[in-house]
Amino acid sequence: MLSEQCVPIIGRDVDARSTDERQEVAMSHYRAVGDVPHKRHTQFRRPDGGLYAEELMGQEGFSSESALLYHRHLPTAIVSAAAYEESSQVLQPNYPLLPRHVRSHKLDTGLTADAVTGRHLLFGNGDVLLSYVVATGPSPLYRNGIGDELVYVESGNAVVETVFGAMTVSSGDYVVLPTSTTYRVVPEMGEVLRLLVVEARGHLGPPARYLSKRGQFLEHAPFCERDLRGPGEPLLVEDEDVEVLVRHGQGLTKYVYAHHPFDVVGWDGGQYPYVLSIHDFEPITGRVHQPPTVHQTFAGPNFVVCSFVPRVFDYHPQAIPTPYNHANVDSDEVLFYVGGDFMSRKGAGIEHGSLTLHPSGFTHGPQPGSVEASIGKASTDELAVMVDTFRPLDIGPAAFEAEDDDYPWTWSGRRQ
Ligand SMILES: [Fe+2]
Repeated sequence: MLSEQCVPIIGRDVDARSTDERQEVAMSHYRAVGDVPHKRHTQFRRPDGGLYAEELMGQEGFSSESALLYHRHLPTAIVSAAAYEESSQVLQPNYPLLPRHVRSHKLDTGLTADAVTGRHLLFGNGDVLLSYVVATGPSPLYRNGIGDELVYVESGNAVVETVFGAMTVSSGDYVVLPTSTTYRVVPEMGEVLRLLVVEARGHLGPPARYLSKRGQFLEHAPFCERDLRGPGEPLLVEDEDVEVLVRHGQGLTKYVYAHHPFDVVGWDGGQYPYVLSIHDFEPITGRVHQPPTVHQTFAGPNFVVCSFVPRVFDYHPQAIPTPYNHANVDSDEVLFYVGGDFMSRKGAGIEHGSLTLHPSGFTHGPQPGSVEASIGKASTDELAVMVDTFRPLDIGPAAFEAEDDDYPWTWSGRRQ
C-alpha cells in the first residue's frame, strides 16, 4: 500500500530546497554565432540605424557562465501574462520501499502531444523530475526559469529551435537546454518522438573531473568538444504577439510577446544549448568490472546521468562481465533501457523503453543465472541511460500507470 501522503508537483513547489548542494559542473567552451560587435556593451546597429537590444543571459547572477545575445527587438516587451493551468501530476513516496519497473511504451500518452505539455511524470524529488514524452506535434515556445533541462531522444527525428538557433536531433541525442533558454521542439513531419525529459533544479553539465581548470575536456574524458553540436546560425523569425510558456516556482505562466523571441542576429559566450549523441560516448573498459562512474556523462544538482553503450566486456581471463549485486548507498538509481540486449536482466521482463528504479536501501543485482551465463561473453550491445539521484525519488502517476507489479519478486521468483 502506498502512503496517502502526497507531494503536489504542479507549480513545481515540491520542495524549497536550495541548489547550494550543486555538483561541480562546468560548460565554458566559448562559441560565437552570427553577428556580434567587437566590444561588448557598445553600440551595435541594425541596417536601419537603430540599436540591437543586447541581452546578457548569465548563471548565478553575474558570477558564472553567460551569453550575450543581440535582438532585433526588445526581449522584454510582453503585452500580456496569464496563468496556464496544467493537469495535476502528483508524486507519492516510494513506500513501502520497492524496486520498480515501468514500461514506458505501455503508457497511454494520447494521440496528439508535444514535448512540453505532454510530459508524463515518472519520478521526482526536490532536485530533479523525470518525465516521459511521446510527441507528435510541435511544442509551444517554452522556457524553464527554474533549472536546466536535459532531453534524451529515445527515437524519432526533430528540430529543436532555440533563441540561440536550431539543432537537428535524432535517436540517441542528449539535448542540454540551459535555464531560461526559450525553445520549442518540432518533430519531423509524420515522426513520433519518444523522449525522456530530465528537469533539474539548477545547472547540469559534464562532470568537473573531465575538464581542465579552464574548461577544456581532458584526455581521459569519454567525449570532448568535437562531440558537442551547438546551434550553427541564428534563427531570424519575424512575428508579432507570440505566446511563450514560462516555467517558474508557481507553475506555468503564458506570456504574449510583442515580437518573436527568435530574433537574435548573433550571440557569443559560454552558455548555450548543445547536443551530445550517446553514440559519441566512448566507453571506458577494463580487465575487471568497471564501476558506473566510468559511464558518467552529466552531473547536476544532487544527481548524475550515465550512458551505458556497446562495449567490450571485461577481459581478465577469470572476469565476470555481469555486474555484482550492489547497494546504492546514498542514491536512487533509474535505468532507462533503450537498445540492445540486457543480458544481466534476462528473465526480469525488461524490454526496450523499460525504466527501473532501484532505491537506496534495496540491494539489487543481476537475475539468477545470468552471472554464470555471462562468463566468456566478449561484448555487449546494450544501450541505456541512467539517472542516479542523491536523495530518494518519489513516484509519479505515469510510473504507477505503466508499472510491472511482478518486478520486485523477480530475483526470488516468489510473487507475493
Ligand atoms: Fe544498479
